[in-house]
Order: sequence, then C-alpha cells, then structure tokens
Amino acid sequence: MTKPVFDRFLYGGDYNPNQWEREVWSEDIELFKESNLNSATINVFSWAKIQPSEEEYDFSELDEIIDMLTKEDYDIVLGTATAALPAWMFKKYPEVGRTDFQGRQHRFGQRHNACPNSLIYQKYARKISEKLAERYGDNENVVCWHVNNEYGGECFCENCEKQFRVWLKNKYKTIDALNKAWNMHFWGHTVYEWDEIVIPNELSEGIDYDNTAFSGISIDYRRFNSDGMLENFKMERDAIRIHDQETPITTNMMGTYKLLDYFKWVKEMDIVSWDNYPAFDTPWSKVAMDHDLMRSLKNQPFMLMEQTPSQQNWQPYNSLKKPGQMRAQSYQTMAHGADTIQFFQLRRTIGACEKFHGAVIAHAGTSDTRVFREITQLGAELKQLDKNILGSDNPTKVGIMFDWDNYWALEYTSGPNKDLKYIDQIHQYYRYFYDQNIPVEFVPMDRDLSKFDLIVAPVLYMVKEGVQERLTEFVKRGGTFVTGFMSGIVDESDNVHLGGYPGPLREMAGIWVEEIDALAPGQSNTIQFKDGEKGVSTLLADVIHLEKAESIANYSSNFYTETPVITKNNYGNGQTFYIGTELNPESLDKVLDMAVESAKVTPILEEKTKLEVITRTNNGSEFYFVLNFTEEELPLPSTFIGATDLLTNEKLKEKTTLKQYDVYVIKKDRE
Ligand code: GLA
Ligand code: ZN
Repeated sequence: MTKPVFDRFLYGGDYNPNQWEREVWSEDIELFKESNLNSATINVFSWAKIQPSEEEYDFSELDEIIDMLTKEDYDIVLGTATAALPAWMFKKYPEVGRTDFQGRQHRFGQRHNACPNSLIYQKYARKISEKLAERYGDNENVVCWHVNNEYGGECFCENCEKQFRVWLKNKYKTIDALNKAWNMHFWGHTVYEWDEIVIPNELSEGIDYDNTAFSGISIDYRRFNSDGMLENFKMERDAIRIHDQETPITTNMMGTYKLLDYFKWVKEMDIVSWDNYPAFDTPWSKVAMDHDLMRSLKNQPFMLMEQTPSQQNWQPYNSLKKPGQMRAQSYQTMAHGADTIQFFQLRRTIGACEKFHGAVIAHAGTSDTRVFREITQLGAELKQLDKNILGSDNPTKVGIMFDWDNYWALEYTSGPNKDLKYIDQIHQYYRYFYDQNIPVEFVPMDRDLSKFDLIVAPVLYMVKEGVQERLTEFVKRGGTFVTGFMSGIVDESDNVHLGGYPGPLREMAGIWVEEIDALAPGQSNTIQFKDGEKGVSTLLADVIHLEKAESIANYSSNFYTETPVITKNNYGNGQTFYIGTELNPESLDKVLDMAVESAKVTPILEEKTKLEVITRTNNGSEFYFVLNFTEEELPLPSTFIGATDLLTNEKLKEKTTLKQYDVYVIKKDRE
C-alpha cells in the first residue's frame, strides 16, 4: 500500500472560468456542488491572462477564482499555464515558436507550441511557475501542481540543432564513437566535426516523419527531444519548489504516446497523471492496457487528470458515451489504479475547436441533462466509497516489457514489414491477460524482475546492456519468459547483435532464426501444433532452427513448411517460449495458456467469465471491481454471492446478473 497522495478522491476537472462573465461563475459553483464535484483544475491555459505583457503580471482574476474555490473547500489542481504561449512573446521573440519536420517555422497559433530549447521560453516559463508558487504555494486548497499540459511534439529549429550537438557530445564524447554508433561509414556519411551533424528532419536523413535513412541519429533525436522537454518540466518543478516544498507536482501524460520516454519522466514526478480519450471503437482491453501502463510507470496509484463526460471533438467520429458508460469507465480507471476521477471540461466553451467537447455543464447551462445526472450519481458513490481504496495496490506476477527506445527503433527500422507496429503487438499479448483476468504490470528494461513469475516481451527488438543478464537470471531461477519474432535483434544504437538472431536471447530460447519472411496483407502461412490443432501466421515469419528447444508448432505451408514456428526451451529452472510469427488470437491464447501454466500464474477468479475483474489491495482488504463491458447480460461469478456491494451496500444474491456497463465493487477482508 502506498501512502495516499490526497485525502479524498479528487472529483473535478478542467475549469476555465476566465472565458465567462462573473454571473456564470456563481452558477458554476452551485452546479458543481449539486453534481458532487470536490475539485477543479484551473489556470491550464491562462498565460496570456496572468502575464498580459513582458513586464506585467496580473493575478487578480486568478485570485478571485482561487478564493471562490477555496471558500467552498474545493481541492485545486493548479496549472502553470505554460502550454500555450502568449501572443506578445511570439511578436517580440519569434524563435520561441517551433520549427516542424519540414523545416517551417511556426507563428503564433494553436498550443503546445514552444521550442523546448528556446532560452526565452525557458526564462518566462520558469518565472511564471515561480511566481505562481510564491503566491499560491501555501494555500491549503492547492493540492497539486499541474505543470504545462500534455508535453509532446518535437521541434527541429536551429537552436535545437545546436543543443542536440551538445547533447551528443555529452553522450558520445568523441566523434569516432558517434560515427560508430550511427554506422556512419555506410553511404559515406562519416562526420569529422560536431558541427557537421544536422538535425534529422525531412531536409536531411528523414525520409518522411516515420521513416529515416539513419535510425541511429533519428532515435537519438527522439531521446534528445524527450530529455529536452523533461528538462522543461524539471525547470518548472524546481521553480515551484523554491516556494512550495510539499505539494505534489505532476504533468498530464497520454498513455502509449510515442514521443516521450515516460519511464524516464516519472523519476522526476511526484505522481503520475494521465488523460484517457479512447475512440468509440477502442477495445476495452486497450483502455485497460493504457491504465496499467500509466500505473506501472511508478508502480503506484495515478490521477486520471482528464476524461470526457460524454464526447470528444477531435476524433473523426465523436460518439456519445452511452448511459452508464462514463461511470463504468471511471470504475475501470479506478480498478487499474486511479485515485482521482477528473474531467475535461467542467463547462462547455462557446467557441473555437472545443465547443463540441463534452462537459459537466452543457451549453444549455442546466443540471437537467443525462450527463449531469450521471456525474452527480458517480460523485455520490465516490463520496461514500471506502477511503481505504486510496493508495491501494494492484499486485501482479506477470510483467510485460515496454520500452520507448524499443518503440522508436522498431518503428524506424526499414523492413522487413512496414505494418509492424509496437503498440499493436504489445496489445495482442495484453489482450490475452485481460480476457483471463490476470493482472499485468508493464516493466521497463532496467527494472528488477525478481517479483515476477512470468515475463512477456513481444518484439523485444532492442536489447540494451544488462537486459540479457537480467532475463537469463530470471529464467534460470525458475521464471517463464515469452518472446518472439523481431526480438534480440539490435543494441541500443540500433546496430545488429551479430552471431545469429535472436542475438542475446538465443541461448535462453535455444533456437537460431536464420531468416525473417514478410507477409503482405492477405498473405498468410498455416501452422500446426503438435496436438494437431491448426493456426494462422501473418505479418512476419521466422525461419527457425532448433538448438536446445523443442517445437510446439510447425509451419504447414510455404517453403519452410515443417520447420518450427513456436518453440519451448527448458533453461536453468525455467522456460523460454518463442513465438516466431504473428498468430491468430486462438493460437496465441493456446501458447500463452501453456506459459501461464508453466509459470503457475493464476487469474483473479477461477471461474471463467467475460466480465472484467480487477483487484486493488491494501493492508487488510481486497477490493474487487467487477465490470461488464460486453453487450451481453452476464452472471455474477459465484464467489461474490453473499458479499456486499460497496456502491449500494446490498448483499449480492444468487442469480445476480450484470448488464452492459454494470459495476460492482466488492470488499473482502483477508483472514
Ligand atoms: C487534451 C487536453 C485538453 C483538451 C482535451 C480535449 O487532453 O489536455 O486541454 O484539449 O484534450 O479532449
Ligand atoms: Zn527548437
């Protein structure tokens, strides 16, 4: 159990009253109270308001907003307002704006638009954060700092280019080391001076945004960009800390967002917060996966900083959340580790691109809406939910490896198949554990593996230093390891581990992969398990030789028919499974069943069910979240009959069923 960061479930969201006249503010507060909200996130995009010019700061309006919320004892999540630059800054210092991948320098407009290496931006962002902390840092109602907003994107300006060279010098020390790391003797790209290195954009090594001629430089640019934005975060954090040493500091993240190495980021953050915006057709297993990834970053409860009460505006198709859906999604979020439920936005804006974005208060301005009623109901439930859930853990025995360097490298690599996508591969494996109700933690390559019984590492393309040793030790002491195609191929510079694939994983897998075939859309191989069951192989197909391993399934078509496609190797006290192709879901399930059995991992419930069942535990109790995300009406698993549902305080009777989006939260005290 982690010490809870907040005293209560924060239930609120982004609130921008400065878009409205004063009489609307008092209506807001009345409606917030009616809907059981207890917090608000403010000042996220108010830089232009609080600093109208280079010399002038004006906190009068923000003072009023904070006073109003403080009077009502609302918890305040205070933004530092630095995610959208004020117009005056662009006018006087155009270099604060970003330059895009095509080399075009952007002007005033949109948001998330600062060059992370602009000294002007840094100076004013630091200053505004410090001033905010000086003014509001000791306000008891300010319970959390929200730095910037959804850090992301990249800048390719000359300033960044100069900083990149400094970053590279720091990393490689000598130009020879850099040439070697990037394999620059290929195509005669050898550089002799640091200032010959140019930024990898469309005018240089970039083929298009997703493809590059030299992955080494492009991966390093991703690392540099992620580090640079992290420096921006740290700079604001440290400025806040001058005046406020206690209040937790966060910035809102975005799940599997590609460009920032979140595992590195969270080492600098007090608590993880994130914004959950699935599309109408995102599988529930993917939503669960995002939550698990966000919780795993620190392996601690997180904040749900944003979700929409009803619909978004920026997706191609912004469906409404159906009755009960927002509530079920909120409990799913909590089940996977959230200690807050917050919305974007509290009142619908009247103009610009977010006027069709859902809000607690609709344009009609009343509490008489379906969405408002659902929010009110959820708020009432959260209030009476046992506070013990705050800070409770999500225990797991299964780790799935997730790594941003690997993500970047895998998707930059040219060949063998352009359709190979990192998140999609990870999700195919995650989906199995989701269906089985086996809880999962995501593990970065450098995390200790000793608490796990099963480690799954799909497309572990990049194997960095130390990883082979950690995995070897894990398997030798009795762990079960699952990996497969496109694994063990390169080192951290994206240069191949020589001596045969899967390089550093070869010994523990007990196989050698001689060739990798690519299968285009519509093409597939057939495969056959030893017990006769048949399956399908798509995307990539490894041509495998057994060394010490045994085959579980062979190809039954193509010129490599009868050669192994799935293998198992006993290694030390443990086992390695190797899956040499993308499998149809039933076949993947079959192999993962074997791995789970070998690892002696058990699901949360013995009973098979299509319900999502997740537990959070604290010192003495277990909280079971039972959720129905299917369209069928499903029976409550028998183990819960007779238990009390915390949301209704009713005993769950025999023949209880759950309709779509129904939820039970059940507490069991450990004997
Ligand atoms: C993001 C931002 C918010 C808002 C929402 C809309 O998450 O952080 O400011 O724009 O998207 O969905
Ligand atoms: Zn820049």
